[in-house]
Amino acid sequence: MGGGNGHVLVFLVSVFFFIISSSVDGSQYKQLSTIHVMNSMAKGSGPMQIRCKSRYTDYGMRQLGEGTEYRCGVREKAVYYCMGMTGRRIASWHAFQPRRDGNRKAVFWLVKENGIFLSWDNSTWVRKSDWETD
Ligand SMILES: *[C@@H]1O[C@H](CO)[C@@H](O)[C@H](O)[C@H]1NC(C)=O
Repeated sequence: MGGGNGHVLVFLVSVFFFIISSSVDGSQYKQLSTIHVMNSMAKGSGPMQIRCKSRYTDYGMRQLGEGTEYRCGVREKAVYYCMGMTGRRIASWHAFQPRRDGNRKAVFWLVKENGIFLSWDNSTWVRKSDWETD
């Protein structure tokens, strides 16, 4: 029994675990698209709260300062909702919708005083949703 076989075994075992762990990572973190949400509210409105989620993934509540952008990944072919809150206003919209957004690698959202706007190229915007006030 030489020491050589032991090294080969250790090597094969590490290769095995490397393959296992990379395939697990690959399937878990494969990203279909990215949701971008830009806070374009009026100056002085302060930070807004944002939360994006699907049935399977919940990115939790985040703060989004004026003029800054929030980003999160689309990991499953499922509807992702985002909810925004600022002061007494609340808005919620479909941030990623497989039938609408298909294979687009990025979906951009602009959150403004007069509503929530969608773009696929970060330059042409369509109004999709509005604020609710209680
Ligand atoms: C989208 O456009 C805005 C304004 O031009 C820019 O500040 C932002 O960085 C762009 N976002 C991306 C992801 O390219």
